[in-house]
Amino acid sequence: MRQPLVAGNWKLNGSLASTKELLAGIKSGLAEVVNAEVVVCPPYVFIPEVQAQLAGSSIAWGGQNLSAEAGGAFTGEISASMLLDFGCKYVLVGHSERRMLYGEDNALVAKKFVVAKKSGLIPILCVGETLEERQQGITEDVVAAQLAAVIDQGGIAALDGAVIAYEPVWAIGTGMTASPEQAQTVHAYIRSQLAQHDGAVASGMRILYGGSMKPENAVELLTQSDIDGGLIGGAALKAEGFLSICKAAN
Ligand code: 13P
Repeated sequence: MRQPLVAGNWKLNGSLASTKELLAGIKSGLAEVVNAEVVVCPPYVFIPEVQAQLAGSSIAWGGQNLSAEAGGAFTGEISASMLLDFGCKYVLVGHSERRMLYGEDNALVAKKFVVAKKSGLIPILCVGETLEERQQGITEDVVAAQLAAVIDQGGIAALDGAVIAYEPVWAIGTGMTASPEQAQTVHAYIRSQLAQHDGAVASGMRILYGGSMKPENAVELLTQSDIDGGLIGGAALKAEGFLSICKAAN
């Protein structure tokens, strides 16, 4: 059985004050969420506050990105060991905003993934196609190439115990959620791709859906057989909405 996982990606949002408020709100409603794992990924500078508030709770936290480098002259970067120093368990790797706005290609994303995994962080590998790619009918090719880059660099063993998030780019922040059938089809495809290398890794892999997931559509997405949780953007910024998705996953 795969434990459901709901992760909030706060992106470039919030202040110290709003972070405190959001954390207090999430904590206060968490008693009902016993089966699903809950994770928040705040902006780096708020991680110490998140650690202070969540240490000892059932909620885990993670970074939104990491450097592929361990240290040195890389201005503005944050390493895996720095995230670990502040109690991070997870890290997002290859979010489409990193890929599209900051030029992270499949090779760099794969390098970051392998670095994260080796350090002891659990990488959440984000994959997904643009609207244009979907319209061209190449969704599976795009996702396959994103997965293959990681398997080529790290071997299938690098994916053991990791998490994958399928986030169709056209669904992110647009309100245009993938239908449960569209999402399930790609999730099953991802699992089948992994199964070509290792059946146990494939069947144990938690594959999250991300892209305008909200309380109103969470149940129908989360009840699909290959959807094991959600990676939530906008709806993770309000405790009530985030909690109701966590309860749906539960
Ligand atoms: P939205 O939930 O705002 O569409 O964002 C999804 C996402 O990018 C999570 O990583």
